[in-house]
Amino acid sequence: MGFKKFEMKTGIEQFSLNDKVVVITGATGVLGAALSVAVAQAGAKVAVLGRNEKRAAERVEAIIETGGEAMAVLADVLDVRQMEAARDKILTAWGTVDGLVNGAGGNMPGATVSPDQDVFDFSIEDTRRAVDLNLFGTVIPTKVFGKVMAEQGRGTIVNISSVAAQRPLTRVLGYAMAKKSVESFTQWMAVELGMRYNGKLRINAIAPGVFLTEQNRSLLLNEDGSMTDRARKFINNTPFQRFGVPEELTGTLIYLLSDASKFVNGETVLVDGGFNAYSGV
Ligand SMILES: NC(=O)c1ccc[n+]([C@@H]2O[C@H](COP(=O)([O-])OP(=O)(O)OC[C@H]3O[C@@H](n4cnc5c(N)ncnc54)[C@H](O)[C@@H]3O)[C@@H](O)[C@H]2O)c1
Repeated sequence: MGFKKFEMKTGIEQFSLNDKVVVITGATGVLGAALSVAVAQAGAKVAVLGRNEKRAAERVEAIIETGGEAMAVLADVLDVRQMEAARDKILTAWGTVDGLVNGAGGNMPGATVSPDQDVFDFSIEDTRRAVDLNLFGTVIPTKVFGKVMAEQGRGTIVNISSVAAQRPLTRVLGYAMAKKSVESFTQWMAVELGMRYNGKLRINAIAPGVFLTEQNRSLLLNEDGSMTDRARKFINNTPFQRFGVPEELTGTLIYLLSDASKFVNGETVLVDGGFNAYSGV
């Protein structure tokens, strides 16, 4: 009795993004730089979406230098009109959108409470801005580009969450609430897309641990380059005893964007050196 023939490719080719168009928001950022180059190396044309013209041009240049194809698209993820204009620009140039990575996000200074502050001294306004950026900065591009994918009958979306969603980190209130909501949105949308589009449209998330970037540099490093107490706490609670490097997110992203994860929907994959699994004892 012979084995039934596989119905799909099961080798390395299932990770290919050849002939796909992938939009990456926040591609102008530190993690976005590594993510956009990796997605291009996997074969996709990359729409580098951000607000900073110079940085977007640098990212496009870096992709072209490694033999990939990319285009800068200047837009604010919180502005529906700008997202629609971005969609039109990409469709005019490349005719399709097959993937979306919601990478724009970050913390707001007043949405945190430092140890010398009263716990109630956080700013409501900054807390709202943190929720806006991380949650609605994910919801709006998903609504605009997800509809294109639905009309095409195929597509994959990957949201960037954080370990702060799994266990809210001390001090960072707005960010923790926002990322938790990103994961709730991921699950809700995954169920709706799964039921309505017959498995052809999927949405998942990646929750990075701590990666040293511009956004958290002042939290993690002193002016002389030594680690802050907070950085040491992170390292001591990470079984790998180090921060992640941006390239370590890329394999998971390619997996989630490609056919390699064809039956994966509504998941959050932690890339955190074991931080979330560690009890601290
Ligand atoms: N660095 C970390 O350790 C870490 C850990 C977990 C999760 N994350 C998440 O990863 C993602 C990328 O983080 P990063 O460390 O590269 O930060 P970053 O600040 O370097 O990159 C974020 C990018 O998003 C852009 N952006 C911000 N608001 C925008 C808006 N309204 N419209 C369009 N673009 C906008 C910024 O200009 C920046 O280029 C974020 O969602 C962040 O929350 C980071």
